Amino acid sequence: MEYDEVILGRRSIRGYKSDPVPTSLIREIIALAMRAPSAYNSQPWHFYVISGEPLDRIRAGNVERMVAGVPESREFRAGSPFAGAHRDRQVGVAKQLFNAMDIAREDKEKRQEWMLRGFRQFDAPVCVIITYDRVLCDSDDTPFDCGAVANALVNAAWSRGLGTVINSQGIMQSPVVREHAGIPDDQVIMKSIALGWPDDDFPANAVVSERKPLEEAVVFVGFGE
Ligand SMILES: Cc1cc2nc3c(=O)[nH]c(=O)nc-3n(C[C@H](O)[C@H](O)[C@H](O)COP(=O)(O)O)c2cc1C
Repeated sequence: MEYDEVILGRRSIRGYKSDPVPTSLIREIIALAMRAPSAYNSQPWHFYVISGEPLDRIRAGNVERMVAGVPESREFRAGSPFAGAHRDRQVGVAKQLFNAMDIAREDKEKRQEWMLRGFRQFDAPVCVIITYDRVLCDSDDTPFDCGAVANALVNAAWSRGLGTVINSQGIMQSPVVREHAGIPDDQVIMKSIALGWPDDDFPANAVVSERKPLEEAVVFVGFGE
């Protein structure tokens, strides 16, 4: 695939076929992703590629705790709830997804099932947990670097026909993930990425999220315009 085709075609995938993903292909994708730049070439990232029984245990543990009302215990902070333009964009994409999935605003049951889907890593056959070395955790460069590698990973996956969704819901109960993935204490759990073959019949997979206009994001300085 051409670069533009990957970037413009990629979208988050929230419905997967159950077909397994060969480890050789996952290795290929992660190797491409690891060409991402990082501060002083520190490469602070680690990838836990989880499937089968351990992934089922993570799904079950996440759902059990969320349904029981156990407060979030993520290691990678989410910050305050969005407001203003950020909130508008959050609501915008949620509306697109709910419309596609035919989930009415007042339909609590369907909304709950949609939320639990996220905690189940969207029932994907594979989940990649990105962690970073705790010793570097006081540098903002570290999560920046891991964000770069995550973006590279989702695009590399798309270029090979695989779908992904970067998923905060998957790590909201970080102790569950830490236990079943066997993540040592000297690493911080940053994010999960669901990975697998897209189910083209799953309506939300067709959603193309909006982007703010370039003019709102870009300031040219010194160009004489
Ligand atoms: C840091 C981060 C966390 C995210 N967490 C979730 C999540 O918990 N649940 C979800 O459905 N999508 C999640 N997403 C996917 C975003 O909703 C999605 O990337 C955004 O709406 C843009 O859509 P696109 O990826 O299809 O272009 C997350 C994305 C990022 C980058």
